[in-house]
Amino acid sequence: MGCGKGEYSVGLAKNNPNKNYIGVDIKGNRIWTGASEALNSKLNNVAFVRTRIDFIDHCFSENEVSEIWITFPDPQPQKTRARKRLTHMMFINRYKKFLKPGGLVHLKPTAPVFTNTL
Ligand SMILES: C[S@@+](CC[C@H](N)C(=O)[O-])C[C@H]1O[C@@H](n2cnc3c(N)ncnc32)[C@H](O)[C@@H]1O
Repeated sequence: MGCGKGEYSVGLAKNNPNKNYIGVDIKGNRIWTGASEALNSKLNNVAFVRTRIDFIDHCFSENEVSEIWITFPDPQPQKTRARKRLTHMMFINRYKKFLKPGGLVHLKPTAPVFTNTL
């Protein structure tokens, strides 16, 4: 989710030829980079979807996805932009609609996950 130039999508696809990967991002010029690399490397297990992740539950059926990767997402530190975080409950509730029971969400955070303010 928010795959950017698709380095992870392409890298995972190369390392796991028996699994299919779909990179999702709203920025067409970024996913073009990943899509070109996939074509040049003749990978047939990676694809890209250009959409706002806000609509992602319209792209997959129930139980269709085994793993979701969110790598280095925009941290959106401002409280007023919290709903833009790809880990916001609004997004998590959409992911739950198509993630298999027992499915995994891999998160590589850009910023610390929390700050101890005690
Ligand atoms: C900081 S970049 C991370 C790129 C990539 N995951 C990586 O590891 O290099 C965040 C990406 O998420 C995308 N993004 C953020 N919010 C999005 C949304 N609601 N719908 C689609 N893409 C989104 C941005 O377009 C951007 O390419």
